[in-house]
Amino acid sequence: MTAYDPTLSETYRAIGVTFEDLWTRDRAMRDVLARARRAAGSDVTLLLLGENGTGKNLLAQAIHNASPRAEGPFVPVNCSAIPPGLLESELFGHERGAFTGAEKARRGKFELADRGTLLLDEVADLSREAQAKILRAVEYREFERVGGEETLRTDVRIVAATNTDIRARVERGEFRADLFYRLHEVTIEVPPLRHRRGDVALLAGRFLAEAARKAGRKAPALAPAALRALERHDWPGNVRELRSVLRRAVTACAGDRVEVADLGLPGSRLEPALVEPGDWSLAAAERRQIENVLELTRGRKKEACRLLGISRPTLDRKIEEHRIEWREDGAGES
Ligand SMILES: Nc1ncnc2c1ncn2[C@@H]1O[C@H](COP(=O)(O)OP(=O)(O)OP(=O)(O)O)[C@@H](O)[C@H]1O
Ligand SMILES: [Mg+2]
Repeated sequence: MTAYDPTLSETYRAIGVTFEDLWTRDRAMRDVLARARRAAGSDVTLLLLGENGTGKNLLAQAIHNASPRAEGPFVPVNCSAIPPGLLESELFGHERGAFTGAEKARRGKFELADRGTLLLDEVADLSREAQAKILRAVEYREFERVGGEETLRTDVRIVAATNTDIRARVERGEFRADLFYRLHEVTIEVPPLRHRRGDVALLAGRFLAEAARKAGRKAPALAPAALRALERHDWPGNVRELRSVLRRAVTACAGDRVEVADLGLPGSRLEPALVEPGDWSLAAAERRQIENVLELTRGRKKEACRLLGISRPTLDRKIEEHRIEWREDGAGES
């Protein structure tokens, strides 16, 4: 057989994940979660859409655990990771002697997920051939094992997920429309993090605490400028990226406060102050600019004055006025 080992973790339980584990304070995201929670109660087939790292897998587990099938298995299949030659036996199982190497009969994912939930993850990556093979199983919940004659039935709730634009694939003829219609009885679209910037502060705080706990240290604070840099970032990798940035920051941070530089975000140290949602005032922009520059100069005021093009008394006055948290990191002059 190949290096791919389907016997690794055959059945799964979505251990402990509930809707409470999906943190948000964003109105639109809350609506999405409320819809998902309602859908969890029925057996409808769900299609979860959303960019990389928006939380689709977490959501699928929460849905399973909130469903009447919570006591049954939760079986994820990563459709893009299964070599084409193994897909059929992986999904539907095989009989003994069905092919070289099939020394024992084996159940496939559809069978293993009986009375539970089957997550068809990265579903848009299935080849046309594979799509044809699973259509009947999705539609009628029946299939045969590879090399088997008997038609087996399974009682599964199907959740499919993808981070690609599956509708475009259907339009281009790359994804079967009939399968698509069976999969999206209800579609749940998880918004990208950049459309719910209000969640950045909430998630950052929690991930920071989590990373610090794992590292066995006290959670550092997040410098105001660091938080603003996080809020400005576009997060192409969404929540997953935010989580790993904060893990890295906890390692990088020497003191008790995570600074912009600890985040390692591309370009964030030199980026001009951008207005954050909700506060477009000139005063707010000025405050941010001063904070950024102080961050950049690691708190050295002389250097900050030069960059800002203002005198020292003006800078001191503005620091007072805007109540800017200021601290000098570097040794040497102030
Ligand atoms: N709202 C959230 N609250 C807490 N953690 C979250 C949230 N959303 C995502 N995460 C965390 O972010 C990471 C990525 O989530 P997940 O794997 O569910 O994303 P995904 O949408 O399935 O990504 P991909 O498309 O790459 O498979 C996980 O560590 C998950 O626990
Ligand atoms: Mg995923």
